[in-house]
Amino acid sequence: MILDSAALGGRERYQLLTSLVVPRPIAWVSTRSPEGRRNLAPFSYFAAVSATPFLVSVSIGSRSGVDKDTLRNIRRTGAFCVNLATEPQLALMNDTAGEYGPEVDEFEHAGIASAEAERVDAPYVADCPAVLECRLFQVVELEGSPNTLVLGEVLRVRLSDDVPLAPGTLFADTAALRPVARLWGDLYATIGETPSLARPRV
Ligand SMILES: Cc1cc2nc3c(=O)[nH]c(=O)nc-3n(C[C@H](O)[C@H](O)[C@H](O)COP(=O)(O)O)c2cc1C
Repeated sequence: MILDSAALGGRERYQLLTSLVVPRPIAWVSTRSPEGRRNLAPFSYFAAVSATPFLVSVSIGSRSGVDKDTLRNIRRTGAFCVNLATEPQLALMNDTAGEYGPEVDEFEHAGIASAEAERVDAPYVADCPAVLECRLFQVVELEGSPNTLVLGEVLRVRLSDDVPLAPGTLFADTAALRPVARLWGDLYATIGETPSLARPRV
């Protein structure tokens, strides 16, 4: 089958994109509005971008041309936390994905305990084993797209003592972290086998 993108509708491109670019880690993004309301929602258009500066990206869509709450808060406060979604939190994470209005505090709605980030003005998920405190680095408006790419600079990493590091490094133990990833639709993936292969020496 050959699929020419120009012959496809947006919905079809979305279906191909989200089922072929898999598995995607999930940034469970927490923010606060300038009025002080907490917000929490998952985003799987999430990627590592650069180590120096220390950057991650999240691509956030709009709802009928209006910024989602997360994007609106980040634009206004320049701050957010990426809580790395993990297996024990899968159901809670899903509870926060409803298209709730800006008046809804998803922490309260889903019964999730929050704590305060120290380097940025945003809450984080208190029980999340890995949290990235991010300052807005750049907003990239994507021409012709309802999505906006947000680049965040990680100012602080909060890592639970339950996630050991590989000896002598800052590589976090994947089996202990138990990250979940999104596939497509309602499907998620957990970490399966993790084969190790040395790179060819040239
Ligand atoms: C696992 C998962 C991943 C999602 N990924 C994205 C994403 O990458 N971009 C996006 O715009 N919406 C994504 N969504 C939908 C948002 O979470 C949803 O629109 C949410 O209501 C946005 O909340 P907010 O308005 O409080 O920011 C995802 C939903 C789920 C369940």
